[in-house]
Amino acid sequence: MPLLEVKDLGVRYDKAQILNGVSLAVHDGEFVGIVGPNGAGKSTLLRAISGLVRFEARMKRGAGGDIVLAGEVRFGAERIDGLPAHEIRRRGLVHCPERRRPFRELTVLENLMAGAFLSKSGPETQRRLERSFAMFPRLAERKDQIAGTLSGGEQQMLATARALMYEARLLAIDEPSLGLAPRIREELFAAIRRIHGAGTAVLLVEQEVGQVFRMAERSYVLSQGRIIAQGSARSLMADETLRAGYLGL
Ligand SMILES: Nc1ncnc2c1ncn2[C@@H]1O[C@H](COP(=O)(O)OP(=O)(O)O)[C@@H](O)[C@H]1O
Ligand SMILES: [Mg+2]
Repeated sequence: MPLLEVKDLGVRYDKAQILNGVSLAVHDGEFVGIVGPNGAGKSTLLRAISGLVRFEARMKRGAGGDIVLAGEVRFGAERIDGLPAHEIRRRGLVHCPERRRPFRELTVLENLMAGAFLSKSGPETQRRLERSFAMFPRLAERKDQIAGTLSGGEQQMLATARALMYEARLLAIDEPSLGLAPRIREELFAAIRRIHGAGTAVLLVEQEVGQVFRMAERSYVLSQGRIIAQGSARSLMADETLRAGYLGL
């Protein structure tokens, strides 16, 4: 049984159908990619899974511009669609949204501690802190630096490291490399590999298809709100139409 199972997910913003009949699965410890052109609905998909679209819908209710959700999401065999975002995160489905920024006025360490407020004991928090620093050595070196003075890439790393302060069984990361210099991008992807290597399932959304294909065991191609293909990098690359039309490779 998959760790995450999405069935016939639909999201409609007012009259625009953003996601349509999206089904996918991620197994325990698996590394799954989602690729597709800009505006395909990749971020909306992660936001729908993690409860953020429902939160947005609740905030907007009655204010016009209705948001309508359809379909089912299961995590660890239980239905999670309809649960509040914090409850979904507590169960171990941790979402690191696009362009997430840390608290600029806090230090690196304080940012990570702010991500740990849910954990039960001091030693547990310490263990998670050490794990975050082990995954991101660059942050360990800068633990007392004010986050607002970190480079963009380091801030992106901090945002991802913060997600690790939760006990993630599945880490869903949206475009972590956006706007980063190649070297720091490599460092960030190396950290994501380490996170996966430590046993966490990863669902990675990225514009950079080649990078996803090097890391993910399997990928889904999303276009105009629908899954149009799925499989290993090799099988997706073998499809000429897909390659030329959607993957830009
Ligand atoms: N909160 C929102 N309200 C209305 N439309 C939205 C909202 N969020 C996203 N969309 C629309 O949904 C489509 C898919 O966006 P998105 O999920 O961000 O795509 P991607 O991440 O693949 O680039 C876009 O056309 C976008 O304008
Ligand atoms: Mg996006």
